[in-house]
Amino acid sequence: MTRRRRVIGSEAVGEAHQRKRNVIEVLPGDIVTAEARDRAERLGIRLLDGPLEKPQPVRTDGKTAMRRVLWRRSPRWVAPAPRTSRSPRRFSRIAFIGAGGVGGNAAHLCANADMAEELVLIDIAPGLAEATALDLNHAAGITRSRARARGGTSLALVEGADLVLVTAGRARKPGMSRADLIAVNRRVIHAAGAAIAAHAPEAIVIVVTNPLDEMTVEMLRATGFPRDRVLGMAGTLDSARFRAALARAAGVEPADVEAITLGSHGEEMAPIVSASRIKGRPLEVYLSPEQIAACVKDAVTGGGQVVALKKTGSAVIAPAHSAVELMDHIRGARIGTVPVSVMLEGEYGISGVVLGVPCHLGRSGLVAVAEMKLSEAELAALRAAAEAIRARLKG
Ligand code: 2OP
Repeated sequence: MTRRRRVIGSEAVGEAHQRKRNVIEVLPGDIVTAEARDRAERLGIRLLDGPLEKPQPVRTDGKTAMRRVLWRRSPRWVAPAPRTSRSPRRFSRIAFIGAGGVGGNAAHLCANADMAEELVLIDIAPGLAEATALDLNHAAGITRSRARARGGTSLALVEGADLVLVTAGRARKPGMSRADLIAVNRRVIHAAGAAIAAHAPEAIVIVVTNPLDEMTVEMLRATGFPRDRVLGMAGTLDSARFRAALARAAGVEPADVEAITLGSHGEEMAPIVSASRIKGRPLEVYLSPEQIAACVKDAVTGGGQVVALKKTGSAVIAPAHSAVELMDHIRGARIGTVPVSVMLEGEYGISGVVLGVPCHLGRSGLVAVAEMKLSEAELAALRAAAEAIRARLKG
C-alpha cells in the first residue's frame, strides 16, 4: 500500500510546538512548505528525514513493574503531619541531671519551645551546668524564650521540679556495649533517684542513662515512684534511626515513613517490620528483604556507629530530640502512642521488667500501655529482650 504524501505546513509546526515536541519527522515524498521551515527554525523545532527509529520500550524487572502499577493505582501520598494538640501544658520547672551533650541539647530544645518557666541544669563537672544555663539565658535575647535557666552541681537543685531528665553517667567508649556500664551508672542513678525522691517527690522522671532499661529499673527502685512516673527514653531514638535508615534505602522523605522499634535499647532491640510503613504501604512494596535487614541492623547499631566515630562519648542530638519528644507527649503537645521503656505488669505476657513498648503518655506520665498486634517472631523477640534484661539485672 502506498502512503499518501503529506504537506507539512505552518499549522503542523505550531501543533508540534504546542505538544512540546522538538522534532518533526519528514517521510520520503512529504512536502514541507517554506513557511513551515521558517516557523520551525524560529521555534527551534528540527525537521528530520525519516523514518526515525522508534525508541525501544524500557525493560523492567517484574518487581519494579509491580511497584509502578501499585504506585499508579494508589492515590497521591501525603505524609500525615504529627498529631498535635492545641493547648499543650507548660511545665513550671524541668530539671536536667546531667548537663553534657544530651542534657545540654535537650535543655536548648526545651528553651526554644518555651516549654517551661524554669530550666534547672545540674552537673557534677564544676561550672558546666552554670555555663550552659548562662549560655541559654543569653540565647533568649534572640529566641525570646521566657524560660529562665540556672545551673549548679548540687542534686538538691531538683527541688520542686515537675519533670526531671536524667542523662548523668558514663557514656560508652568504642568497643563497649551499653550493658558494660551497669555497675558504674547504677551508683549515679541511685544518687539521682534519692535526691529526686527527697526534693521533687511529685516529679515525672525520664531516664536516658545507659544501659537504659536496666537504669530505668534502678530509678524505680531508688525513687520508689510508681511506674507511671518513671519512663525510659529509647524507643523514640531507635525508631528515629530505623525511620531514617528506611527513608534513605527507599529514597523517600523521613516523613513518608512510619517505623517503630520495641524491646531493649541494646542487642535485643526489636524493630517492628510488620507495623512499619513507607508511604502507608508495607516495607516489602519498596524494599527487598536484604534492604529491610540492613535497615534493621542500622537501627540496632546506630548508637554504636556514632560512638565508633566520636571515640569519646556517644550520640547527643538525636537522643536529645527523642527525650523532648517524650516531654511533648507528657505536656500534650503530641498525641497518639510513642515507644517508651516502662515497667510491664502483664502486658505482652511480660511482668516485672522494664521494656520498650508503645504507650500513651499524659500529664501524670504513663497513661496506658498500648498492646499492638505483633507477629509471633516479634513477640518472641520482645520476650527474649525481657529475659536478657532480667538476667543482666541479676548479674
Ligand atoms: C544512643 O543510642 C546514647 O544510648 C544512646 O546513642
